[in-house]
Amino acid sequence: MSSAAEIQRKIRIEQIRKIRQQEEEARKRLSKIKHKIIVLSGKGGVGKSFITANLAAALAQKGYVVGVFDADIHGPSIPKIFGVHGQTLYAGPGGIMPLLGVGNVRVVSADLMLPSEESALIWRGPLKTGFIRELLSMVNWGEMDFLLVDLPPGTGDEALTIAQLIKDLDGAIIVTTPSDLTRIVVKKAITFCKQLNVDIIGIVNNMCCFICPKCGSKYYIFGKGGADKLTKEMGLRLLGDIPLDPRISEAMDKGVPFVIAFPEAEAAKKLMEIAEKVAEYVEKKPGSGGEEGEGG
Ligand SMILES: Nc1ncnc2c1ncn2[C@@H]1O[C@H](COP(=O)(O)OP(=O)(O)OP(=O)(O)O)[C@@H](O)[C@H]1O
Ligand SMILES: [Mg+2]
Repeated sequence: MSSAAEIQRKIRIEQIRKIRQQEEEARKRLSKIKHKIIVLSGKGGVGKSFITANLAAALAQKGYVVGVFDADIHGPSIPKIFGVHGQTLYAGPGGIMPLLGVGNVRVVSADLMLPSEESALIWRGPLKTGFIRELLSMVNWGEMDFLLVDLPPGTGDEALTIAQLIKDLDGAIIVTTPSDLTRIVVKKAITFCKQLNVDIIGIVNNMCCFICPKCGSKYYIFGKGGADKLTKEMGLRLLGDIPLDPRISEAMDKGVPFVIAFPEAEAAKKLMEIAEKVAEYVEKKPGSGGEEGEGG
């Protein structure tokens, strides 16, 4: 073999060794977290980040120790929801320390590593995969009850990297909206989970309707019945319907999770109920780290 080919071979072996080492380190750190859940949809803009963040805040309100990993490298929104946008992650002796967001939720996002608000990570697949793996190998989450992972739309590199790296995922929460187009695209996310043997905890039907604050009438702005049809077709459980609420943007602007900013809102009550169902699901799951019944 020529010396150039030999050098290339050695570089490749070294790269693979480094990848394996990072995977091992990431799994070791993640093994201290009892329950790991991904939130995905297939469709963009349906409220994945809103639901991830607010389920995390709801679980923290119930007394669990919770973290959120923002795996949406190109469009991160988790830091803003938890009021840590503009802050920077720092590395301590034990690794990268998550920031503590409003509501006592530990937050890690690529956005918290960028020099300014306008900075963007312009990366292709392998770079994103490498970044997620390396970041998870370095984050010192500590002991936690729950880690929720917010995924970008689609079933691309980020989702695949997370699903393959976190082999002991408890399951996935799938977010949909009532429209027929969303239902069709969301099925792809369901197929993704099935193909990767990720259990589906259930479906959240976001933006189900608008409840008039004056008369209490319900308006089905994006249609009706799409989520029921989806759950029946795919044999899945509907975790709950979340109405539209303009105060959700208000809470985001304030940097306070909606369930904390407006606990009396119908959407916040629904999110608390869904969090309860998720906690019940993971605790009942065979081999779950939570049989002893932690939290509130
Ligand atoms: N039930 C709701 N009522 C009112 N606004 C909502 C609701 N759910 C989400 N939103 C708003 O809709 C927008 C999109 O939500 P979000 O960013 O959570 O979606 P996403 O699925 O994560 O989007 P992306 O695919 O870009 O990651 C946000 O401005 C959010 O505040
Ligand atoms: Mg999002």
